[in-house]
Amino acid sequence: MDNPSKITEGGIEYSLGKFDGHCVHYDFSKILIYLNAKGKLLFGKKFKIYKEDKTFLLKLTSYFIRDEANCKKYGIDLNKGILLSGPVGCGKTSLMKLLRHLVPAQRPYEMIPSRNVTFSFNHLGYKTIEDYGNSKFYCFDDLGVEPVGRFYGKDLNVMGEVLLSRYELFQETRKKLKTHATTNLNAEELEEHYGNRVRSRMRELFNLIAFDEKTRDKRV
Ligand SMILES: Nc1ncnc2c1ncn2[C@@H]1O[C@H](COP(=O)(O)OP(=O)(O)O)[C@@H](O)[C@H]1O
Ligand SMILES: [Mg+2]
Repeated sequence: MDNPSKITEGGIEYSLGKFDGHCVHYDFSKILIYLNAKGKLLFGKKFKIYKEDKTFLLKLTSYFIRDEANCKKYGIDLNKGILLSGPVGCGKTSLMKLLRHLVPAQRPYEMIPSRNVTFSFNHLGYKTIEDYGNSKFYCFDDLGVEPVGRFYGKDLNVMGEVLLSRYELFQETRKKLKTHATTNLNAEELEEHYGNRVRSRMRELFNLIAFDEKTRDKRV
């Protein structure tokens, strides 16, 4: 890729800002035009960027484009991953799928429904913890509502174990490993689900970026 400020989708070239030969000077309004178009391609023509989500999107895209000044302003640590929280249907899963495309040069993350991790554990046992505790980048979707895992009569909080493994690796790799997640739960509910130990590791793994509680449900 010669000019990372340009992305072509469906034969149309989108400019995201200006490239000075070293880095892209992103233009947020152009980013929104691209996200609007790519969102329609991925999720259908009903997809659009909502006005009331713009402030939230500025925060989230600042992280993905690694805008240091804005990240500092918003208290976002670029070494950590994103924990995207918000009410059911506000668009968390869609956004995490969409934002990967904004920065094609960055190593992509795989979207994994958290409940699939539990189901995998129920079939394969502890191998699953190793499989997801590896050095790939993941976004665990819908964290905290997956059922408890059960393998040969033994119960396990599977995602809790996976997060602990990934935290270890995050430290070992000097914070090069990325883990993202989406959740409908708030901090107290997450703590209730995973316990204090996992919750404190989560604070080190993730930047919390939250949709407003009143964000509309986009399913209708
Ligand atoms: N910006 C948007 N414009 C239009 N529809 C959207 C938008 N974001 C999400 N949707 C739709 O709303 C529904 C819920 O979105 P989803 O991303 O699954 O929300 P969440 O993960 O927060 O529960 C989906 O059918 C999705 O296609
Ligand atoms: Mg979701």
